[in-house]
Amino acid sequence: MQANHTTDSILIVDFGSQVTQLIARRVREAGVYSEIAPFSEAEKAFHRMKPKGIILSGSPASVPEEGSPRAPQVLFDSGLPILGICYGQQVMSEQLGGEVRPGHETGAEGHRGGEFGRAFLTVTKACALFDGLWAEGERHQVWMSHGDKVTQFAPGFEIVATSDGAPFAVIADEARQYYGTQFHPEVVHTPDGAKLLANFVHKVCGLAGDWTMAAYRETKVAEIREQVGTGKVICGLSGGVDSSVAAILIHEAIGDQLTCVFVDHGLLRLDEREQVERMFRDHYNIPLVVVDAEARFMAGLDGVSDPEKKRKFIGGEFINVFEEEAAKIGGADFLAQGTLYPDVIESVSFTGGPSVTIKSHHNVGGLPERMNMQLVEPLRELFKDEVRALGRELGLPDMFVGRHPFPGPGLAIRIPGEVNKERCDILRKADSIYLDEIRKAGLYDAIWQAFAVLLPVKTVGVMGDSRTYDSVCGLRAVTSTDGMTADVYPFDASFLTGVSTRIVNEVQGINRVVYDYTSKPPGTIEWE
Ligand code: XMP
Repeated sequence: MQANHTTDSILIVDFGSQVTQLIARRVREAGVYSEIAPFSEAEKAFHRMKPKGIILSGSPASVPEEGSPRAPQVLFDSGLPILGICYGQQVMSEQLGGEVRPGHETGAEGHRGGEFGRAFLTVTKACALFDGLWAEGERHQVWMSHGDKVTQFAPGFEIVATSDGAPFAVIADEARQYYGTQFHPEVVHTPDGAKLLANFVHKVCGLAGDWTMAAYRETKVAEIREQVGTGKVICGLSGGVDSSVAAILIHEAIGDQLTCVFVDHGLLRLDEREQVERMFRDHYNIPLVVVDAEARFMAGLDGVSDPEKKRKFIGGEFINVFEEEAAKIGGADFLAQGTLYPDVIESVSFTGGPSVTIKSHHNVGGLPERMNMQLVEPLRELFKDEVRALGRELGLPDMFVGRHPFPGPGLAIRIPGEVNKERCDILRKADSIYLDEIRKAGLYDAIWQAFAVLLPVKTVGVMGDSRTYDSVCGLRAVTSTDGMTADVYPFDASFLTGVSTRIVNEVQGINRVVYDYTSKPPGTIEWE
């Protein structure tokens, strides 16, 4: 369920561009709430959201091609300001009576049509979109990525900026407050792009830019109260930021109608369980059931070394434990989840076909139907960094809010091969030394995720006068913005040497340390 927003908002109609999410980011950074709806759902979203302005995204599709998507007519009938970006500009032009042709037909460049990458435009006329930013006669860098272009604009429009490859680089119909850019203002390669989008939402749409986490918190608390009524809510805590923030927000709304369940499956990081207990019971006074399920998880993982089998077992067993606990408290009407916006946005695919499953991610999917519960997902409109901001707003300490992500199946997928308590204990120690050194070096926040891996390989070493024959520990650290792609974090050799020495000296069972130098792709962040 999505909220019925009374807040001023912008509706972003998605035609399948790779960078549509960035439009939402930029608008929110300007202090205005925005939501993305696929073009096929845009009419419904329009009626639900009652937005104050509309942005039409780019697309891999081509307007002149038969069957390519169009914006619902209701948007043009609404009288609201509209900004069309790239395909959005073209589709708007075509739907309002202009003409769009494939780049190669116009031949204006004397070779194949379109422009890709950095380009410069010249401002030919002032308009509200450029207010306080770009003046007539100035040249500005923008990012283009288009094959087709508008060849005849619709009645009412005029050219306000032009470039060599796109004579209609920006068009405007100031009377109707319609604007179209052939370039992409949402990407960082258009240096003034964020300011142009801010101009659109503030100066064209007239929105104040007062969407803050404090306001979000207040709205959500009211919505949760309304949704839940006198019902009971159960929330599975993972120790991660998302489920924690969701739980604290829900608790603020409905108090002891919420029960949190934390399953200790024995695959947690060092002291993680104690930290969660302290945080929830002592700091927030939130009812917390901690289930000591280590023995049953270890028993189930005995003899299992296939990564997918491990994931499936852990996911299934998690649900079993959770169900048992829910039954003990007399059942619940609602299940709370820390689902985020990127998981919710329906991506529009023009290539068709399902995507390949690389790993089956562990979540509590399947639970709500099995237990006949409705979902409470108060973060489903937020991006990760917004969840962190909300966490701070709710008083979560920075140390907790800024924690690196940790996968549901925990250490099991960081121990290739067979998992048992002894190997988990070894890995926990090595991992905690590694993170301790990273924190001491002041690098923790610069890294998306850092962790140790325990390999099923034994090598020979020498300590003192004795031969050792112990396991290898792998270290991983990556930078990333969303976990979808990642770069290796380039530690100094001296830092890695220091960590290696400490691990080998302090952790019995490890006698060699290696650093993982694989980006994603081709590697994944986790090893399994
Ligand atoms: P991969 O290994 O697929 O990981 O590159 C991408 C991000 O997802 C996290 N991850 C998981 N998170 N359940 C989760 O909640 C899982 O099963 C799971 N597997 C991977 C991983 O830690 C990284 O941040």
